[in-house]
Amino acid sequence: MTSIKPFQLEDLFNINPVNLDPLTENFNISFYSQYLNTWPNLFYKSIESTALPQDEVISGYMMAKTEGSLFKNELHTHITAVTINQNYRRINLASKLCLQLEKISEVQLTLFIDLFVKVTNELGRKLYEKLGYSIYRRVIGYYGKSMPLDRNLVNDDIDAFDMRKNLPLDKDKKTIRDHGENVYVLPNEIVFL
Ligand SMILES: CC(C)(COP(=O)(O)OP(=O)(O)OC[C@H]1O[C@@H](n2cnc3c(N)ncnc32)[C@H](O)[C@@H]1OP(=O)(O)O)[C@@H](O)C(=O)NCCC(=O)NCCS
Repeated sequence: MTSIKPFQLEDLFNINPVNLDPLTENFNISFYSQYLNTWPNLFYKSIESTALPQDEVISGYMMAKTEGSLFKNELHTHITAVTINQNYRRINLASKLCLQLEKISEVQLTLFIDLFVKVTNELGRKLYEKLGYSIYRRVIGYYGKSMPLDRNLVNDDIDAFDMRKNLPLDKDKKTIRDHGENVYVLPNEIVFL
């Protein structure tokens, strides 16, 4: 049986099997700690129970934050990571973790949820599209090693799609757009202050 529980610092010792995927980013301890300290409600895990509590397995987790100003119509929730252990995929777990995020009151106070997904990550994109997200813009060279200067230099291997889903607070859908895959921006143009 699956349950969703708050992520705890010591869980970092048990997430290697979840993170073993080239499309899952691994961060340093201070980065995870910052999320736990600042947005504890937005960092949670899915747990698979067994007959013995000590055999419980972390099957996936969600790590998110809120950022941007309401004054500029940019207050939003950002999904930094959602990832599922290979042994527990395609049973709706990532969908559950994403839908859970929308139920959290501090998320409901934001205008939209967004995330970056590699252009080549078709599974990730399918997941989000199924949940009602759409492409807002293409970030040129987001996953590259150097800062790109030409916004027309598309490269599927290092570009990201910035995907968004508007939340009830944005009832007029001002924070999303159609055909965002044709809107190219540079990484320095997507900073929220
Ligand atoms: C992408 C990922 C999170 C999906 O997790 P999951 O728990 O298997 O996803 P779900 O079971 O909720 O699937 C939701 C939808 O995504 C799509 N999808 C997921 N896996 C798929 C697959 N192997 N083949 C085709 N479609 C797939 C389907 O549309 C699916 O809906 P359906 O089962 O009704 O057809 C998982 O593959 C993963 O952890 N990948 C590595 C990290 C990553 O890419 N994270 C997302 C980017 S931030």
